[in-house]
Amino acid sequence: MTSTIPNSNLCEYKPGLEGIPATESSVSHVDGINGILEYRGIRLEELAHKSSFLETAYLLIWGNLPSEQQLQDFQTEILYHRRIKYRIRDMMKCFPETGHPMDALQTSAAALGLFYSRRALDNPEYIRRAVVRLLAKIPTMVAAFHQMRRGNDAIQPNDDLDYAANFLYMLTERSPHPLAAKIFDVCLTLHAEHTINASTFSAMVTASTLTDPYAVVASAVGTLAGPLHGGANEEVLSMLDEIGSIENVAAYVDEKVAGKQKIMGFGHRVYKVKDPRANILQGLVEELFEKTGYDPYYKIALELEKVVEGKLGAKGIYPNVDFYSGLVYRKLGIPSDLFTPIFAIARVAGWLAHWKEQLNMNRIFRPTQVYTGGHNIPYIPMSER
Ligand code: CMC
Repeated sequence: MTSTIPNSNLCEYKPGLEGIPATESSVSHVDGINGILEYRGIRLEELAHKSSFLETAYLLIWGNLPSEQQLQDFQTEILYHRRIKYRIRDMMKCFPETGHPMDALQTSAAALGLFYSRRALDNPEYIRRAVVRLLAKIPTMVAAFHQMRRGNDAIQPNDDLDYAANFLYMLTERSPHPLAAKIFDVCLTLHAEHTINASTFSAMVTASTLTDPYAVVASAVGTLAGPLHGGANEEVLSMLDEIGSIENVAAYVDEKVAGKQKIMGFGHRVYKVKDPRANILQGLVEELFEKTGYDPYYKIALELEKVVEGKLGAKGIYPNVDFYSGLVYRKLGIPSDLFTPIFAIARVAGWLAHWKEQLNMNRIFRPTQVYTGGHNIPYIPMSER
């Protein structure tokens, strides 16, 4: 459905702004026809195999790969800022333990603005510190809420562990197996950035008002939480659970297609082929399963991919990033309601890259609309309604 905007050079309204450029950006590029994703021009496959999440975050945010010294300094600074203030922990203790961790994260990310409130967006040092704080503290806040909702104290970051391993440690109080930490780090790299998706757009709109970066990230977290965006990875596992066995897959898909319902973890606004991140994740799933034993859900997932491809492939509906990520996280022993917060931990890098880019060429977002209401309608007094 499209309609014309009166008195405007823009001729069409496109629901969901499909295909409408909202900005110019050099952060990342998606080729949805050939299934290619590049961060700052570098193919994601290369980064997944050769880089680390923090190096990739540096690349995204500062625009170039760091030198050895720059990377070391960045990692050290992030390590130094991983702790969160006891007042934030105390605030989090008051959150209901039944609340969703994404809501807890959104609230805590916004609360950072209370503690680091000096806003100096034209000061590179302020920008650098905000980047470091957000990358450093978001994982700690996710893990802290997880511990607290189970009645435990938050586990302090472990200075002997790197970014990915430390997060897994804060969830379990055990140092993870190196393979688990490595795979988790690759997952973070895969989720770090993806052009102008809903949460990034939300971050940019918020950034364009020149508010503080904590508000920018908090608004993006709220947007990521929805089931059509980051929340889909959690829903994929519930769906595999509901399907229950390979024999039920075809009937499940038939029912969804007949009812015009979405199958979670499939489809994408830009990709019309299998999402390259899903391909890499599937490889990681297999690597993990070979070493630690297969998950019965995997066979259901493979069958589901086959059936959906047969029925909806012609429409360009293939697995997206959320389809296999949940299987990796499940194998790593991570509870399913933390899948989307983990997506957020990674995507902070992309949000901050776009925040910086937005500041460098800022003009406040203020689109127009197609008004569909009436005019000059008389006010009806309460007694006559
Ligand atoms: N299952 C069944 N049919 C689908 C699906 C799906 N998952 N996705 C799209 N379609 C069909 C849809 O019914 C429509 O068919 P028709 O033209 O006959 O009405 C057509 O494909 C276009 O769908 P759309 O909803 O207009 O596409 P969109 O670009 O607005 O939405 C999407 C993209 C990702 C929101 C959608 O594919 C979807 O809801 N997928 C399920 C949720 C999901 O997995 N989300 C994660 C997205 S990737 C990671 C992220 O962004 O966070």
